[in-house]
Amino acid sequence: ANEGMWFLMHIERLNYVDMQKMGLQLTPEEIYSINNNSLKDAIVQFGGGCTAEIISDQGLVLTNHHCGYGNIAELSTEENDYLNNGFWAKTFKEELKPANLSVRFFVRMDDVTERMLAQVNENMSEDEREAALNKEMAKIQQENNEGGKYTVSVKSFYSGNEYYYFVYQDYNDVRLVGTPPKSIGKFGGDTDNWEWPRHTGDFALFRVYADQDGNPAEYSENNVPLKPKYHLPTSLKGFEENDFAMILGYPGRTNRWKPAAGIEQNVEYAYPAWVEASKTSMDVMKKYMDKKQQVNLDYASAYAGIANYWKNRQGMIDALKKHKTAKSKRKAEKKFQKWANKQATNKYKDVMPTINAYYERTNKASEHDNYLMLLLRTRIATLPYRLGRTMEYFSSQNEAKQAELKPRLEAEIENLYDGLYLPLEKDVLATQLHLYSQKASDIAPMVKDLDAKHSSLADWKAYVDAIAKESIFRSQEAFTAFMNNPDADMLAQDELYQLSTALLNRYRAKSDEEKAWEDKYQKAYRLMIQGMRKQNPDKKYYPDANSTLRLTYGKVIALPKDKTNDAKKNYYTTLQGTVAKYQPGDEEFDMPKKLIELYEKKDFGQYADKDGYLPVNFLTDNDITGGNSGSPVLNGNGELIGLAFDGNIEAMAGDVIFDDKLQRTISVDIRYVLFLIDKYAGATHLIDELTLVK
Ligand code: ARG
Repeated sequence: ANEGMWFLMHIERLNYVDMQKMGLQLTPEEIYSINNNSLKDAIVQFGGGCTAEIISDQGLVLTNHHCGYGNIAELSTEENDYLNNGFWAKTFKEELKPANLSVRFFVRMDDVTERMLAQVNENMSEDEREAALNKEMAKIQQENNEGGKYTVSVKSFYSGNEYYYFVYQDYNDVRLVGTPPKSIGKFGGDTDNWEWPRHTGDFALFRVYADQDGNPAEYSENNVPLKPKYHLPTSLKGFEENDFAMILGYPGRTNRWKPAAGIEQNVEYAYPAWVEASKTSMDVMKKYMDKKQQVNLDYASAYAGIANYWKNRQGMIDALKKHKTAKSKRKAEKKFQKWANKQATNKYKDVMPTINAYYERTNKASEHDNYLMLLLRTRIATLPYRLGRTMEYFSSQNEAKQAELKPRLEAEIENLYDGLYLPLEKDVLATQLHLYSQKASDIAPMVKDLDAKHSSLADWKAYVDAIAKESIFRSQEAFTAFMNNPDADMLAQDELYQLSTALLNRYRAKSDEEKAWEDKYQKAYRLMIQGMRKQNPDKKYYPDANSTLRLTYGKVIALPKDKTNDAKKNYYTTLQGTVAKYQPGDEEFDMPKKLIELYEKKDFGQYADKDGYLPVNFLTDNDITGGNSGSPVLNGNGELIGLAFDGNIEAMAGDVIFDDKLQRTISVDIRYVLFLIDKYAGATHLIDELTLVK
């Protein structure tokens, strides 16, 4: 069993012996050390939501293509379409700076559980508890940020049973160095997403820049490539089935303690709403994206994000049903109840009944919230509220204050309208409003009133058209004109603004009764985890993922043989399989001509395996989730053998329960990455930067 997303500071005590048995050659100190350079110094959080690694002594960063997707799309235009054609900088000077991209280095972490929990007691309300904890958190941040040099984050684990702080250093000048075209980086598209066998070259290269002294600095021509503390060596040696494999990265969220009733709520209410609303947006967006290339680029990233979780959530529904996950959780909860009843304290007796009652009460609300959440992904649904609120504030200030606020507001306007395509926005908004009013219960009062008058989709479209035409938010020009000559009545009467405000107010609305139930749930859930850990005192536990650095270890291992795979064993694929999927001109399965030529000539250089095939993707049984995308897969010597980029649909229940037999990590073989850089792109100067291990 290779379940577990472990803290680096616990490896030595909890996992090291096991890891060594499986093939790890490094010492714990070589993985995580506060005083000496170690592996952890090469692992960064990328752009807030992904992982990346430093692979050269000049700050070269490797991550997934899908992690850089938004940046690559942003840097692309119809004339210089890097998303579709790829991009390779020949010199440092040619590297491209996206507007906002940062990487975060991990400096150290520590346990502050005792100190935090000393601030609270059983009699506090949840609000009092939170206030006391926040106060202590602020102190811990202050004590450890070295006068602002570092970012310090204190986080709760096991839902408020433990606390750790993390010290980070952020670099904000990060530039695009190279990317394959989408037909390689996203080969297989949404059809292959979350699927095995896979044939995707899901990687892109960036570079971290620093000032002359190696410190973080805002973008400047004078910045220089960062000299990192440590960079990963890159292995050309390949691997076999059952070889040790470990992954360090930033898994985003798992819910492994989720109670049975919570799983049922997701399967029956929350996820179906999510899936339906996502698909609704995707279908409308696609119509406009297919017509105009610029619209396609401007919405590429938003579309990909929705499509990714659309498929994920459907996969979760299917897997949770198939594996009867709720049923097996309920069994464990019954045992826990028995244990709780036998304890001297009453503390744990009501925990499960409270949790179950909470979920029963919130089923319909969770369905509503998911419809509304997807509706609010429409930019034009939230933009009026955001700008309008700022305007209200803006008009109430004196003139000196206005002059001071104006640049910030202008930057925000620029950002909110950037690439906004009104015909698409209006259509998505109308279609989502129609769906929301038909399917959700207890909807925003304004939408309910409107629905009485606009029941068909055509009515909703006519309505949205009409209010958009009149609205000061319809375009950047219209809004800028309004801002230069603001009028409070006009703002208040703008119906798009009213609608936007009504939707956001509904999203945040919480009755006293709802709040009371949430507090009860929060407390019960904390006690449930505490109790379950006491119930099994000898079990090794790891906390749910929450975007903090973790290590998972396991091995290279096949899935049960799939006849659609090209390779001899079902733990890897080769370029032969890519070519077998090739469909000329297809949006998802096209291939660049150059790649086909290289394939036909078998011009694989030093990157072929010992049978002469070019390896493409492979499987391990590491425990990862979204956020780990871009994480390095390392062999027993800590050398880079691959780049994690996905999970498999059969194991989509993995968010709430780890499946020993089916759960896999899907990675790009580093030899495919190197082949593409070297033979496909001809960027041999980048290969020369690496520390290759042959
Ligand atoms: N499923 C991957 C993840 O969530 C993202 C894959 C992106 N590729 C794609 N074809 N959409 O990490």
